[in-house]
Amino acid sequence: MKSIKNQTIIVTGGASGIGGGITRKLIEMGAVIIVVDINEEAGYALAEEFPNQTTFVKGDVSKVETAEEAVATAILKSGKLTGLVNNVHASRQKPLLEHTQADWDLSFNTGFQATLQFMLAAYPELKKTGGSIVNFGSGAALSGSAFQASYAAVKEAIRGLSRVVATEWAADNIRVNVVCPVAYTEGVQDWKTNFPEEYERVLNQVPLGRFGDPKEDIAPIVAFLLSEDSQYMTGQTLMADGGDIKLR
Ligand SMILES: NC(=O)c1ccc[n+]([C@@H]2O[C@H](COP(=O)([O-])OP(=O)(O)OC[C@H]3O[C@@H](n4cnc5c(N)ncnc54)[C@H](O)[C@@H]3O)[C@@H](O)[C@H]2O)c1
Repeated sequence: MKSIKNQTIIVTGGASGIGGGITRKLIEMGAVIIVVDINEEAGYALAEEFPNQTTFVKGDVSKVETAEEAVATAILKSGKLTGLVNNVHASRQKPLLEHTQADWDLSFNTGFQATLQFMLAAYPELKKTGGSIVNFGSGAALSGSAFQASYAAVKEAIRGLSRVVATEWAADNIRVNVVCPVAYTEGVQDWKTNFPEEYERVLNQVPLGRFGDPKEDIAPIVAFLLSEDSQYMTGQTLMADGGDIKLR
C-alpha cells in the first residue's frame, strides 16, 4: 500500500468504536491524526499515548465551530490537511411511528449536517493537498432494516451527497468515497442487548461468519481510500461487511 505516512487526517468520533480503530491503525501507519470526539476521557487518553501523532479536539460534530476548530488544529500541528474521515453518527433505533422530532434531529445533525460541515470546512485545505474524504454509510440503510428510519434515511442522504461532491470536487483532485462497515463495538454491544434477534439475524447473514474488528478489518479499507492506492476511485461505496451485501 502506498504510504499514509506524513499525512494529516481528521477522524471524527476517532476516540472509540470504529473511529478508535481507525485512529490507531493510521497512527501505526505513520499518520498524524486530529481526533474529534465528545468523549473527553478517551480522546485525551489517546493524545497522551501518542503525543506526537495525535491532537484531541473536544467537540460536538453537529456544531460548525467544531469542524472549523478541527481544520485549524490540523494546520497548526502539521501545516496541512490531507484527509478527512466523517465517522460519527448517533441515532436511536425504534419503530418509525415512535420516532420523535428529537430522534430525527439527533440523526440528521450528527450524521448528515456534521458530514456536510466538515467537508465544507476541510475543502480549502484538501484542495491544496489533493486530499481524500471517507464518509460512512450503512448496510442497514441499504437493506431497509426495521427500527432504523432516522438512521437509514440520513445514511442514504450522506451517500447521495458524497456522490455529488465526488463529481464536483474531482476537478480539485479531492476524492470522496463511502464505507459501510460491520464491526463489533460498544454501540453494537448495546444494540445486541436491546435487539438480540436483529443481532443474530445480521450475524447469520455475514458469509465470513463474524463481526469485523474496527482496527484490523475496517481501518485498512479506510486507509486504502485515504492513500494514493485508490487514486482512480471516487464516488464509490465500499462494503466492509464480511460479504453481507454485494453491491451491483
Ligand atoms: N458498528 C457497526 O457495525 C456499524 C454498522 C454500520 C455503520 N456503522 C457506522 O460506522 C460509524 C462508527 O460507528 P461506531 O459503531 O464506531 O459508533 P460508536 O457510537 O461506537 O462511536 C462513535 C464515536 O463517536 C463519538 N461521538 C458520538 N456522538 C458525537 C458527537 N455528537 N460529536 C463528536 N463525537 C461523537 C463517540 O464518543 C464515539 O467515540 C458510524 O457512522 C456508524 O453509523 C457502524
